[in-house]
Amino acid sequence: MATASRGQWSGRTGFILAAAGSAIGLGNIWRFPYTAGENGGGAFVLIYLGFVALIGVPVLLSELAIGRKTQRNAVGAFMALKPGSGWRFVGGLGIATGFGILAFYSVIAGWTLAYLWGAVTGQIGGALTADESAAIFTQTIGNPALAIGLTAIFMLLTVVVIQRGVSKGIEAVTKVLMPLLFIILVILTVRSVTLPGAMEGLAYFLMPDFSKITVTVVMSALGQALFSLSLGMGAMITYGSYFPDEENVVQAGVSVAVFDTLIAVIAGLMIFPALFSVGVQPNAGPGLVFVVLPSIFGALPAGSLFAVAFYALLAIAALTSTISLLEVVVAYFVDERGWHRAKAAWVMGSICFLIAIPSALSQGGVDFLTTLPGIGVDFLSLQNIIWGNYSLSIGAILITVFAGWVWGIPRLFAAIESSGHRLPMPGVLRFLIKYVAPIAVALVLVFIVWTQQYF
Ligand code: TRP
Repeated sequence: MATASRGQWSGRTGFILAAAGSAIGLGNIWRFPYTAGENGGGAFVLIYLGFVALIGVPVLLSELAIGRKTQRNAVGAFMALKPGSGWRFVGGLGIATGFGILAFYSVIAGWTLAYLWGAVTGQIGGALTADESAAIFTQTIGNPALAIGLTAIFMLLTVVVIQRGVSKGIEAVTKVLMPLLFIILVILTVRSVTLPGAMEGLAYFLMPDFSKITVTVVMSALGQALFSLSLGMGAMITYGSYFPDEENVVQAGVSVAVFDTLIAVIAGLMIFPALFSVGVQPNAGPGLVFVVLPSIFGALPAGSLFAVAFYALLAIAALTSTISLLEVVVAYFVDERGWHRAKAAWVMGSICFLIAIPSALSQGGVDFLTTLPGIGVDFLSLQNIIWGNYSLSIGAILITVFAGWVWGIPRLFAAIESSGHRLPMPGVLRFLIKYVAPIAVALVLVFIVWTQQYF
């Protein structure tokens, strides 16, 4: 297997942008605010930040080191480090999870296209009340043909980028668009925090109310931290596999974690003041961002322009994440099965699209999927919880156990330091990888089963 044919990032900046592109997506702007809103606000945010530092960063560095050392996909990496062992199934779980996440993520990503279209045609961007905005949302996502069509378009875009390969496709797209997203986000946030009633929203988001902490809140914060950083399923193993040998893994990894967290926090600062100002409930669920934002565009000078820019960038942020999800799957078929990149991208993208259809129909399109009998939630939300919380958590335990105990700290650290950069605070990182991360995640799962608070 010639490394040259697999592709490589052009350098550290290329990697940071691509990995940040993977991490920064709907997870930050759509999932983080509504999950924080459903889970009591400030206390959730505090737990989330703790998990990013204590679990996210150790898992991230482990994944990157495993990827760079082996230069293989999620399955191949485990096979290279522990040939013939069952550890390859951890990679296999990761591939399945990539499919599982992409199959609902692409549906939400499709919504961003609908909103982009709405902004371009002027339906969104002018003055809208929260009720009008909620009605538009319900109609949009409940239209079966539209939901499926938009999912298809988004999957198609993903396949086209993946087909172009690592540096010409993924890297080129990300480089231009991530900085732009940041600027738009900051402008919207400034508007939001100066709206009447903004303080109440800021207090909800920033002041922890510890009485609101439950097992579900802790699980949601953990799932969100892993989801947002694209961890627990080998995405960072795959991206790390294109990481040049001479670059500094720790610096790159920590930068990605910091950028990702910054964007999530800014998204919260953008959403919560606006939410309280227009009188939407924080626990409104997955529609939160789509309902609240249109009602603040009208209050902005050149609001329709902002609306277009915002949804365009949101769609792009989603695209740089969907490509990382599909890349995990594609890299496996390229490395291990000898498929051409293009074939892998088209075949796997098509299969994933088919799996996405029930999620696309679960937002009002088909009653049975909208309220699953005996479960009470819709199909899409269920996928989000299964793959986006549980599977990533199990993956995170297995990856840290592998890195800390099976492959072992000395080899892990040697792989990180192979570029000639010394690892800062090795004792702390060792403790986090070997003990804190796996035990903390396992405890959360044990409590979930114990108390049966699955969602
Ligand atoms: N992190 C992305 C987001 O926040 C989603 C994502 C992309 C992801 N790749 C992933 C989540 C891999 C988990 C694993 O939008």
